[in-house]
Amino acid sequence: MKFVDEIKRRRTFGVIAHPDAGKTTLTEKLLLFGGAIQEAGAVKSNKIKKGATSDFMEIERQRGISVATSVLAFEYNGNKINILDTPGHKDFAEDTFRTLTAVDSVIVVVDVAKGVEEQTEKLVEVCRMRNIPMIVFINKMDREGKDAFELLDEIEQKLNLTVTPLSFPIGMGYDFKGIYNIWEHNINLFTGDPRRDIEETVEISDLSSSELDQLVGEKAANNLRDELELAQGVYPEFDLEAYRAGRLQPVFFGSALNNFGVRELLDCFVEIAPTPTPKQSDVRVVHPEEKEFTGFVFKIHANMDPKHRDRLAFVKIVSGKFERNTPYLHVRLKKNLKFSSPNAFFAEKKEIVDTSYPGDIVGLHDTGNFKIGDTLTQGEELRYRGIPSFSPEHFRYINNADPMKSKQLEKGIDQLMDEGVAQLFKLELNGRKVIGTVGALQYEVIQYRLEHEYGAKCTYENLNVHKACWVDPQDPKNEEFKDFKQVKARYLAKDKKGQLVFLADSAFSLQMAQQKYPSIKFHFTSEW
Ligand code: G4P
Repeated sequence: MKFVDEIKRRRTFGVIAHPDAGKTTLTEKLLLFGGAIQEAGAVKSNKIKKGATSDFMEIERQRGISVATSVLAFEYNGNKINILDTPGHKDFAEDTFRTLTAVDSVIVVVDVAKGVEEQTEKLVEVCRMRNIPMIVFINKMDREGKDAFELLDEIEQKLNLTVTPLSFPIGMGYDFKGIYNIWEHNINLFTGDPRRDIEETVEISDLSSSELDQLVGEKAANNLRDELELAQGVYPEFDLEAYRAGRLQPVFFGSALNNFGVRELLDCFVEIAPTPTPKQSDVRVVHPEEKEFTGFVFKIHANMDPKHRDRLAFVKIVSGKFERNTPYLHVRLKKNLKFSSPNAFFAEKKEIVDTSYPGDIVGLHDTGNFKIGDTLTQGEELRYRGIPSFSPEHFRYINNADPMKSKQLEKGIDQLMDEGVAQLFKLELNGRKVIGTVGALQYEVIQYRLEHEYGAKCTYENLNVHKACWVDPQDPKNEEFKDFKQVKARYLAKDKKGQLVFLADSAFSLQMAQQKYPSIKFHFTSEW
């Protein structure tokens, strides 16, 4: 197959949802359609169940699963689909944000009864800011839930989206009869039998025909006619360009558990979802069709075997072909590296491959060369940006609890930070180390992993920090900045890259600093 055709047949996306909305179930059904797995239950949920925060075996088990499900790939009607897994647990939100830098589009799952939930809001906001094309799947239609119009309204209001339904439910819960597929002009009748492979689909080209009444009953048929008319009046027509630009979001209804409405979603997805998209680097926009390989690391996963400290770096291929045993430039280290066993991902297994294409993810074995955000190229010195660190929400001093193992502790902290587990700040005043995290769970993960993978012990100590913000003096030589550094010396730290960070102890002190030093900019992400 020609290189350009390989690119055109790829769709790389993520499924995002609030925990329990049905992300795992939907992913599994998509894999079933692709013939990548044979039975339901093969894909394990990687969510951390409530109450599992102190159960380290659980965390380890989850880490194992999340390696396996980090990338799930399958073939469907000649397309190569790559699904990138995004953890739903809010303590791992940063992981999800980073993964979103490697997708070309997303599917947002919403629970029909719960509507738009907190995590959905946060994740969709990130996608919206980056204009990532989104399709919404309203799940669990076999249950009683909110009215379709109410939900569409809620999605528009809370998620700030412009929706266009491409399917419409006929009844819901106990009365759920099926869906009218606006995209394909047919009706899909619901039998509630998840074992069915073939859905009963009836072509309905004319909604006023009496066939509709026979299929779903007169009342439901009339209801559907009214609702579709209303929907047509209220929502814009589907427009491919607007969808791809992130300005319009198609909506589908269905029930993942019952494997209902999933094929419709998938068929439309492969037709409209973008193929690998061009990406901005610090010097130019790079197009997937370019001959020379470029890619970037968006995730690093430590090996599960504590005896081998090797890690898997997940690289999204942006342009060109990635080939085994070929030297590539690690731009940050200015060093050529060769990879003898790059992993490609299929359903729930990984295999060594010779060639991968734009849109694909390769897993590279790494002994400590990679950090999140690193760029690999065929020689060109360009860097992909856009994987910022976010201002953490929790802060604690980290102390060495075993003086004999201080080297191990250093190394452990260093590597865990490269993996993006948390952020390290070093206080300017006394060099003490502060760990900042998005969720409290990470402290336990770090402590556990330091001990089991590096043989080091740590303790934590509370520290009163309200917010960390990156300080951009604009002009480092001006008097205002000098004054700021003197007055706030106790609250200043450096991040791993050596950037100056202000650890404000309260919202008030941050506000005061902003007012007193107008020439200094305070940023809440590490890239601006
Ligand atoms: P997540 O990955 O988004 O966290 O959600 P997951 O797929 O694990 O689904 C959460 C729960 O919702 C599961 O039930 C799952 O069976 C159920 N579910 C998913 N899709 C549908 C649907 O279309 N209809 C109905 N009625 N339920 C659905 P659970 O009891 O928490 O787990 P399990 O014991 O069934 O695995």
